[in-house]
Formats: sequence, structure tokens, C-alpha cells
Amino acid sequence: MNAKEIRQSFIEYFEKKQHRFVRSSSVAPLDDPTLLFTNAGMNQFKPIFLGDKEIDYTRAVNSQKCIRVSGKHNDLEEVGVDTFHHTFFEMLGNWSFGDYYKSEAIQWAWELFTDVWKLDKNRLWATVYEEDDEAFELWSKVTDISPDRILRCGKKDNFWEMGETGPCGPCSEIHYYIGDDLSKQTADGVNVTDEYWELWNLVFIQYHRDETGKLNDLPAKHVDTGAGFERIVTVMEGKTSNYDTDLFMPIITKMEEISGKSYKDDPVPFRVIADHIRMLSFSIADGAMPSNEGRGYVLRRILRRAARFGRILGLKDPFVYELVDSVGEILGETFPEIIDKRKHIQNVIKAEETSFNATLDRGLGHFDRIVKTLKSNIIPGEEAFRLYDTYGFPLDLTELIAREKGLSVDIAGFDSAMTDQKTRAKAAGKFKHESSSIDWKINTQGSDSEFIGYTSLSTDSIIRRWSIQGDQLLVILDKTPFYAESGGQIGDNGTIVNGGIDLQIIDAKKDENVFIHVCEGDFDESFANQSVHCTVDIKRRQAIKLNHTATHLLHKALREELGDHVHQAGSLVSPDYLRFDLTHFEKIASDEIERVEMSVNQEILKNIQLDISVHSFDEARKAGAEALFGEKYGDEVRVVTIGNYSKELCGGIHVERTGDIGAFKIIEESSLAAGVRRIVAITGLKALQLMQKNFALIKSVQEQLKCTPDEIHERIEGLFKKQKELEKAFKQWRSGSALNSRTIASEAEVIHGKNVVIKEISAISMDELKALGDELIPALKSGIGVIGMKGDKKPTIVVVVTPDLVKSGIHAGKLAREIGSVMGAGGGGKPHLATAGGRNNDDLGKAISASKNIVENVLANMVPPKDQDDV
Ligand code: ALA
Repeated sequence: MNAKEIRQSFIEYFEKKQHRFVRSSSVAPLDDPTLLFTNAGMNQFKPIFLGDKEIDYTRAVNSQKCIRVSGKHNDLEEVGVDTFHHTFFEMLGNWSFGDYYKSEAIQWAWELFTDVWKLDKNRLWATVYEEDDEAFELWSKVTDISPDRILRCGKKDNFWEMGETGPCGPCSEIHYYIGDDLSKQTADGVNVTDEYWELWNLVFIQYHRDETGKLNDLPAKHVDTGAGFERIVTVMEGKTSNYDTDLFMPIITKMEEISGKSYKDDPVPFRVIADHIRMLSFSIADGAMPSNEGRGYVLRRILRRAARFGRILGLKDPFVYELVDSVGEILGETFPEIIDKRKHIQNVIKAEETSFNATLDRGLGHFDRIVKTLKSNIIPGEEAFRLYDTYGFPLDLTELIAREKGLSVDIAGFDSAMTDQKTRAKAAGKFKHESSSIDWKINTQGSDSEFIGYTSLSTDSIIRRWSIQGDQLLVILDKTPFYAESGGQIGDNGTIVNGGIDLQIIDAKKDENVFIHVCEGDFDESFANQSVHCTVDIKRRQAIKLNHTATHLLHKALREELGDHVHQAGSLVSPDYLRFDLTHFEKIASDEIERVEMSVNQEILKNIQLDISVHSFDEARKAGAEALFGEKYGDEVRVVTIGNYSKELCGGIHVERTGDIGAFKIIEESSLAAGVRRIVAITGLKALQLMQKNFALIKSVQEQLKCTPDEIHERIEGLFKKQKELEKAFKQWRSGSALNSRTIASEAEVIHGKNVVIKEISAISMDELKALGDELIPALKSGIGVIGMKGDKKPTIVVVVTPDLVKSGIHAGKLAREIGSVMGAGGGGKPHLATAGGRNNDDLGKAISASKNIVENVLANMVPPKDQDDV
């Protein structure tokens, strides 16, 4: 059986036992903040185990994409060094949700291994949790395993937990002896040496570990199993390394091709890279992007490791991205996303490799210098930090290279250098209006900044604090209708007035929960303790609202059109336009833009009533609300729902119905940074006005060209074509007329033995003048040509020098500069051809006359080259 058949046979075995096949969930889950990556097949079933979700089946089977590089389950250091740990792997699993339990789980696992797949019973071992007598006895009762092969082990190996919190329970594992000599097997080796591979873990889920660390009984008992697909394939294919199977070999062969090196000679770099490309491909396909934090930083670390191992194979140019196709060949049929997103994955990897390549070699050089000056075998923390900060070396990469050289890294020192830098950065980037750093005049005591602006646009308020900052006055109110900038939406404008106060609000900012109003105008302090009337600029607020709701529609439309890798990377919602930055690699094509516009406008036309309500964060995420990367959310969140179309966590101000937006038009699409595009769009009457303006423009063009709008293109093309024909005809005419290089050259006079022509001509363009100059060089044979023309307003002169004179040191550029200066401007160019410009056509005659002297002068002073061949 090949890998695909083995996977299929697992699934079919359990389907026959009434298990429902469930697709692998995303490897980069958006809906579980406790997980960076899916690390086990059971992740998607967690809510079922916890009793939070009901489904209409009680048995499931699947092959789940998993990544283990962080958190509780982290195999990164073993990857590539050994032959059976991976960052990315497939976990085959069968589940019982309150249905069968230990007995069936054990019996079927054994039956599949020994009866169906015919694994050698003399190599298999079973372990159970030391306190689990039931499982221990079941192994003898429901299987024919030899009793001396059933072992009791401790918590570390036989009590499985998803993470720090979550479902857990005792487990029973099946291990396989991979060694050559069966007689060398001993019970002591299991879970200890690399000759025994854990192939399958059967977890009996019965607890939930809560935040306090306490184990709580679950309402029902479940089975959660996980079998290492790659290891099973290896064993079934009679190999001893996962990398030697059909799951990895095509990638390795491709690498051998690219590097010209042999896998057999130096397997580790091949293995590491073959492993890492699978992790990168699948996480990017599922929407993750390299970045400086969280999940994105894990991607970055893995990619940088791969690039560095490439250096060991002598690969200097980006190459990792070239392996994506091989991953597609191996796994594309099972996981089509790897084919669908191929181009995107390649682009992301290539851009990231390219940028790291720029510092990798310098970083490696720096590393060597550090090693040379080391006084102990520990790399100091500040140096590790320098490698991180200046050369982009993730700490684990530094550790890895250090390990290879028998060194270690001072991690505590690294952490403290990192903390210092963060403190410095924070101090430098301090919010300009950081409330605590402002010298406030306390006006009235009491709570402040109650925001009432979702429902009221004017109110009578009390000034709590104020502070004069140059021409501006900062004001904090007890309650405020003014929205303070956040979530991309800019702050409100408006007025604050009473008998002695007349302030314009030019901005409103937030520092944590304090709303700071930035004002200009008249402020009579003696009126500060009287209540003030606050009014939001309604027209401006209205325009902002349209753009904010349109931003949500746009976000959704982009994801639908371009794919789930699209995430908001930045946003600005102003009254005049909205700006939306998104993670996406390619230029968004005009037909894609049109479809996005169409989707947004369709939602506008549906005139959907928005639903804005407050929920707990968990509830909102469960309902599928889109949370933005990098945003901090409290336990209670405001969810903005637009029909079945869009659901986002958002504190901003929105229209009541989508129809209020009126119209939506994208006016710009551009690249902001590698992997980030920017869209600018307008809404409402502004969109209509733009369309009207463009319509009028087209109409006037159409009238001028006397055609229908559809014919405009054709007409213009026709005009261009006509112009080209005319130019061609003109050139032909010219070659027969006085205006050709031969005729011009024939007018040359001989000065100091060289042919010199200086002449004003009536060329039609600069290009033509230059072309004539070019032709003049051979026509003159040995000499200098100066030809000038009047332009629309300004004159141009072309100076040419034949090659023999160039050799003698005459430079057309220098002549042009001198001639240009006669016209009050400059000139320059190559030794054989240069141009001079002027400011006014009237100066051309002057320059032409002066040219004669200038040329005469250089010819008179010319020193013939000593050796004609010596160029
Ligand atoms: N959830 C179990 C594991 O990951 C099966 O090993």
C-alpha cells in the first residue's frame, strides 16, 4: 500500500464501523485563542467533548493536519535530527462522543494493526496509565497481545492533555519496535529509546482541566485517538525513516535537483527542509502569514530555519518556495487547498526568503565573530538579541547554530535585552495625549468619559479636566457623545459651548478608557464649572458611518473573492473615504475589483438592518465573528452583524441599514508592503458624484470623437495608428528632402581638417533630432555636428562627435554643456552624442552662432591619440 491507500484504508475501516468521515479542520484555527495551531485531531471536537456543542453523530474518523511547534506539544528540536518527529504531520483518528469506550477503542486499534495491516505482533507494545486497571485488563481480554507486552506507565506518557486547559484523560499507546534485532527488545526501552516509535495514542477523555488547574468530570466519556500517519506509512513500507517514504521523497529529490547535493551524504538539512516546507505550505494555505508575533512569528522562525539549512547545502538564492509544487504532488489530492493556494503560498515564501537572505549571511558572519571572541561556551544574551534584532535570527535559530558548535545561549540575558528594548520603544512611541503624562487642571471631581455617542449626538456635559497645550485645549467630560478614534474610525468633530466657552473639537482620542477632546477656540476659565452643551458634527459623523459599514462589507467581499488568507491589516474610516489594508500577495485584478464592488453594492441594495449587540468574547467567536489581528478584546464585545453576510467584533459607529450607504466605489488598489495590498473606496453621494463626473467626461470625449462609448477605445486606437502612419510617411518624405543626414553632412565645412556642420533644422520632435544626430555620425566620417531645433517653447541642440575624435578626447557632452550655457541652460550626455537645452526659442540662433567658435576651439586644441589602437 502506498501512503494514500494507507490513509484511505484507515478511514474505510472506521467507516465500516459507523464512523462519519469529518474533513480535516484548518491547521491555523481562528476560533480558538488558546491554540496557535491545530495540534491534534480532537481540536475541532473540543466543544463536543465539553458539552458545548451538539451534533447528530456519535462516531467520527478523520485525517487531521497538525502542527506541533509551540506550547505543550512541541517537537521542533527533534525534527530532522531524528527520522520521525515533524513540525507538520497528519494525525489519523477515530472518535466516540459518549458512545463506545475503552474496550472497542483497544480492540479495533489492535485489529486494524494486526489483522488488516498485518503489522508484526512481535514488534508491538501497549502502554496504559499506571492507575488504569480497566485498560490494563482489557488489553489481555480483547486482543491477543502477549501479556508481557502490556506496560503501565506514568502521567508524563499516559495521561494526555490538549493544553494547559481543556479536555484530557488517561491514555493507552501502541508502540512499534523499529530495530533490526527483535531479540533486543525490552520493556525498559519503550518510551525511552528512539527504537520504539509511538504509533497510536488512544485517549479516554473524561475530564476538563480548568483555568485553576482543577480536573472536572465531563458529562460523558469519550474516545479520542491519534495515530501518526507518517510513522505508520514508514513501518508499512518497511522503512526506518519517515523521510524515505513517498510522503517526503519527491520533496527530497527536488532538493537534490536544486542543490546538486546528495541526500545520502548529508541527510539532516534535507530532512529539516522537507519537513518545514510542509508546515509552511499548509499553514499559509490556511490563512497564516509570516509576521513578528504569535502564529506569524512561528512561520517566520520555521522559514528562517529552512533558509539557514539551505545554506548548508550551498543554496544562496531563494529555493524553499520551489518545493511547494512537490508538496502539492504528494498531498494535493487529499488536501486540495495546497493546490488552490499554490501561487499564494509560493509568493509568501519567496518574499520572506528574499528578505531574510539579505541579512542571513551577514548574521552568520556576525555569529562567527561572536564565537571568536567568546570567553566561555555561552553566547551572551545581548549578542543573541543583536542577532535577533539586527539580523533577524529567531532565538531558536541562534540556539540551533550554537548547539551545532557545542555552545549554549544565555536565554535570560536575551529576554532581558528584549524587555529593555520594549521599554525603550514604549517610551519613544508614547501616546501624545497619554492622559497620565498630561498636566491636567482638575475642574470637577467624579467619573468621566461615559460614552453616550452610540445613541445621542448632543448632550449637556460637565468638564472634569482640562489642559492647555500650545494653541490647543484638551478637555475631558463626564459624559461625551464624541467618538474617539479607535478601530480605524477617526474621532468625531463638533462643538462644546456655554456662555463663556466656544470650542471646536478638531479631534477626539482615547487613552485606555479616557476620552480626550482636542479643541480650539475661546475658553473663559471662569465658565468652566458651568455645564457645556456638546454637539457632534452630524454631517461628518454620517459620512463616517457609511464608510465604516462599507468597510465591513468590503472585508467580507474580499475574503469571498480572494480567499480566507485575506485579513484586515489596517484600516482608516474617515468622512471622505475608507482605506482598507489586506493580507494578499498579488495585485487585485480589475475583474476581481469589479466583483468585489458588485458584492458590496448588492448587500447595500438588500437594505439589510444591522444587528449590533454585546456578547461574551467566547460566544461571539463561536458564532463566527471576525476578530481582527492585533486587536485587544475584553470579555464583553460588541458584535456588528450584517444579515448572513458579515459578523465582526467592532466598537465603531454604523448605519442602521445597509441601504443608507447608497453606493460603493473602489478608487484605488495598490501595494503597501510585501503581502499587503491597500484599497481606497468611497461611498454615498461621493461615489455618485465621482460616477457622474466620469460619465460626463466620457460623454464629452464621445462627442469629440463622434462615437458611442463602446467605440471610444477603437477610435483612440485608430488615431494612434494614423499618427504612426503619418510619422512613417513623414520620415520617408524627409529622407528624400533636405532634412536628412546626408544632405546635412554635405553642407559641412572643413575646420582644422575635420568636417564640421552647425545648423538649425526643423525637426518635428526631440526624438527625430536625436535620430538625425545618430545618422549624422557616419555621414560626417570624421568631424563634429551641431544641429538645433525650436520646440513648442524651448530649443534643443544635439551635438555629435565621430569615433576618431572621441578617441582624441573630444566629448560631445562637454560641448553640449558649453553650448547649453549660451542659451542660459545646460547640457550633457555621452562622448559621441549629447543634448543641450535652452529656456527660450529666441536663444537658439545665438547658440548656433556661438557653436562655431566653441567647436573650432576644441579642434584647435585637440591632441591626436598617440596610438590609434589604444582606446
Ligand atoms: N489527542 C491525542 C493525541 O494527540 C490522540 O495524541
